[in-house]
Amino acid sequence: MDSKTKAQQFVEGFSKLSKTEKINWIVKQYFDGDQQVFKEFENYWHKDPSQQKLYDEFSENTLTNYYMPFGVAPNFLINNEVYTLPMVIEESSVVAAASKSAKFWRDKGGFHAEVLDIQKIGQVHFMYSGDKAILQEFFKMLKPKLIRDTHSITRNMKKRGGGILDIELIDKTNDLENYYQLRASFNTCDSMGANFINSCLEKFAEVMRAEAGEFAPFDIYKEPVVDVVMSILSNYTPDCIVRVSASCTLEELVDAVPGMGGREFADRVVRAVKIAEVDPYRATTHNKGIFNGIDSVILATGNDFRAVEACGHTYAARNGRYSSLSHADINGNIFTYSLEVPLSVGTVGGLTNLHPLVKRAMNMLGNPNAEKLMMIAATAGLANNFSAIKSLVTDGIQKGHMKMHLLNILKTMDASFEEVEAAKKYFTDNVVSYPAVRNFLISVRSNS
Ligand code: MEV
Repeated sequence: MDSKTKAQQFVEGFSKLSKTEKINWIVKQYFDGDQQVFKEFENYWHKDPSQQKLYDEFSENTLTNYYMPFGVAPNFLINNEVYTLPMVIEESSVVAAASKSAKFWRDKGGFHAEVLDIQKIGQVHFMYSGDKAILQEFFKMLKPKLIRDTHSITRNMKKRGGGILDIELIDKTNDLENYYQLRASFNTCDSMGANFINSCLEKFAEVMRAEAGEFAPFDIYKEPVVDVVMSILSNYTPDCIVRVSASCTLEELVDAVPGMGGREFADRVVRAVKIAEVDPYRATTHNKGIFNGIDSVILATGNDFRAVEACGHTYAARNGRYSSLSHADINGNIFTYSLEVPLSVGTVGGLTNLHPLVKRAMNMLGNPNAEKLMMIAATAGLANNFSAIKSLVTDGIQKGHMKMHLLNILKTMDASFEEVEAAKKYFTDNVVSYPAVRNFLISVRSNS
């Protein structure tokens, strides 16, 4: 029976096994005890056991490490400062596209980025079936107590200039019977702030429950009327947002694409972006291209790409139809390409202090604070998006992609250096596909 058809087994107490025992179990269950597979897992362990322990402990049930390319895209000019962006990404051509875009905009003034706001949001979701006016009265009494009773949690953040910005009572009963929220906004300075926000929210919930039990006007109800459902930050942070743009004159676009006028190129780009603004199918792919750049920087700097993606897509749908996050326009003689995206990131805490390569990524960026990192990541998004659109409205993306694809195929077929060089030449004018490359190699090999 091969590993595909073998019956899957449940296992008890797996997390209590040692790492070797876990790998042995996997190898026995899925690879017929093949010791080569054990060795493969082992080969990707860090040679220094203390370093390996660090990676093991980032997560649970760790067997080995999963390599991803850590690349760099140089020549970014952002707010008149030069950066080389660290990018962790498995998709070939993302780093190349970012680098091309950086070079393209570098002698046109570069990218201009600004953080518009840095508020994060957390919610205590609760049910309340009593009189609305009494709840308002309760909240008035409660709010200062929530601030006071979270003092031990917020003290340090306040010293750094952050903390709780506001707490509101939100009536959601039009959406769901008896449903209300405490919605709090926070400034978490240079940390992403998930732990800080969640600790505050859980304290809010505890205080609210206790105070509701003591609040005399609620005595008219026989049962407790405030029922907390859950307390958790929201990854939707539309007010933790950054804007980045790049502009130039139409004349400066003359050389953008050989043989195409600056005006024609700009018109094509604007039209392509307008399509992403009105069509969700196109917008999804368009925004995916933006997140190629953003996620690469977010991963390299040890931030939470799931949170960043989820937030970006919600923001893209904020007006009721999923739409493009970037925009392009021509105003008089000026072409502008811009992106507005919410980005909740941290430059202290979490992986930033632990992962050796995250530390190096941060060093390369000049150890930015969270606002600077927001601007850098958003710029990567805009750069990748611009490169994709530039290709799409001119040559298409396959030409560039296929070059990388060819190299990957050749690698899987163990092509020698000479074979790779010959293939590169041959496939300049021929369509790249697995069968075509295989046939090419067969014919080269049979002639040698
Ligand atoms: C591929 O990873 C990303 C693109 O599809 C983005 C786009 O279509 O705009 C090229």
